Amino acid sequence: MDSKSLMNLEDKYGAHNYHPLPVVLDRGEGVFVWDCEGNKYFDFLSAYSAVNQGHCHPTIINALIEQSKRLTLTSRAFYNSKLGEYEKFMCDLFGYDKVLPMNTGVEGGETANKLARKWGYLKKGIEENKARIIFAKGNFWGRTLAAISSSDDPVSYKGFGPYMPGYDLIPYNDLNALETELKDPNVAAFMVEPIQGEAGVVVPDEGYLEGVRKLCDKYNVLFIADEVQTGIARTGKMLATDYENAKPDILILGKALSGGVFPVSAVFANDEVMLCIQPGEHGSTFGGNPLACAVAQAALEVVVDEKLADRAYDLGNYFRDKMNEFIATSELVTLVRGKGLLNAIVINDEPSSSTAWDLCVKMKENGLLAKPTHGNIIRFAPPLVITKEQLDSCIDIITKTISNFK
Ligand SMILES: Cc1ncc(COP(=O)(O)O)c(C=O)c1O
Repeated sequence: MDSKSLMNLEDKYGAHNYHPLPVVLDRGEGVFVWDCEGNKYFDFLSAYSAVNQGHCHPTIINALIEQSKRLTLTSRAFYNSKLGEYEKFMCDLFGYDKVLPMNTGVEGGETANKLARKWGYLKKGIEENKARIIFAKGNFWGRTLAAISSSDDPVSYKGFGPYMPGYDLIPYNDLNALETELKDPNVAAFMVEPIQGEAGVVVPDEGYLEGVRKLCDKYNVLFIADEVQTGIARTGKMLATDYENAKPDILILGKALSGGVFPVSAVFANDEVMLCIQPGEHGSTFGGNPLACAVAQAALEVVVDEKLADRAYDLGNYFRDKMNEFIATSELVTLVRGKGLLNAIVINDEPSSSTAWDLCVKMKENGLLAKPTHGNIIRFAPPLVITKEQLDSCIDIITKTISNFK
């Protein structure tokens, strides 16, 4: 079937909860994807940073094939032969006592919130049903009722109330506002993204994360880092919190944990926190399934073996340097920001204008796929396996598209 017919099918039979760019992807390999007519594109979104290892990485796909021939799902009613080995691997790699496996990123966030509340009641001594969790404005951690209850984006929350109680918002990158909230003994946790991805790649000041760590220590509050988008080498380190002395009490990973093969997420904590949850109090049919364990372990081994964090670090600096040179000559782009290969440009136009969308359509026609976020921001997040030569070609496409834009 041709692309047009396939788009019509989605439009007719699928819910209208997405507004995709008009391209139908059929195949992917490394940094490239192809549409149904065989046109080839650089993927500059990487499934919102889930495909850090590149599309259909052979090592990950082999792990998927081998494990899927043996055992895929047992439920957690029984032990399975992959889970323990995977959990040890994960705890050794990320430096925690324990890991709790889930599937999607938002379930990771839910798990972290539940852990924090339980810890608040059992360890901090918060009175039952009084626990509060503080979030930063502009946060995004998914689409469940809990996640939208902490959102300040009306598109996410409006019309879906009533909302989860016990959630409060403070400005991002504001340690004074955080300290004011943390003085309340009912606060169990502060949950924050080290860089706000969906908000448009908003990078906080240097020292912010370390400041969060210190304040959480001072007031006996758990620091939850949502690294679902920033984690797994995307920002030039294995974790974005690795840039500072800011190890979270609870770490949430997802997306690239499976290299984009299927949903795998994980929540890490030390025993003092993790053991607050007892058998029967939390779980998931698919969380910790042997197929996910095999795939995620392979996906992380690829990140380590191919030194993807170093690659993202170096190529990210190069990309921002080149874009800054270009911006000095462009009236249409006001700035580029980001860390590693999680970057965005801000278009010199109102968020309500269609300029960023139109630019993305033009870039698509020129062989590169990206998508606007919040109207006038375009995120650039290629798979981390991209080479310098490929990145040069992409910079060429981006800058020429912007220069020729009318
Ligand atoms: C920072 C962050 N947390 C959580 C999520 C939710 O992940 P998922 O869509 O897998 O539920 C996202 C998704 O974009 C995210 O960017």
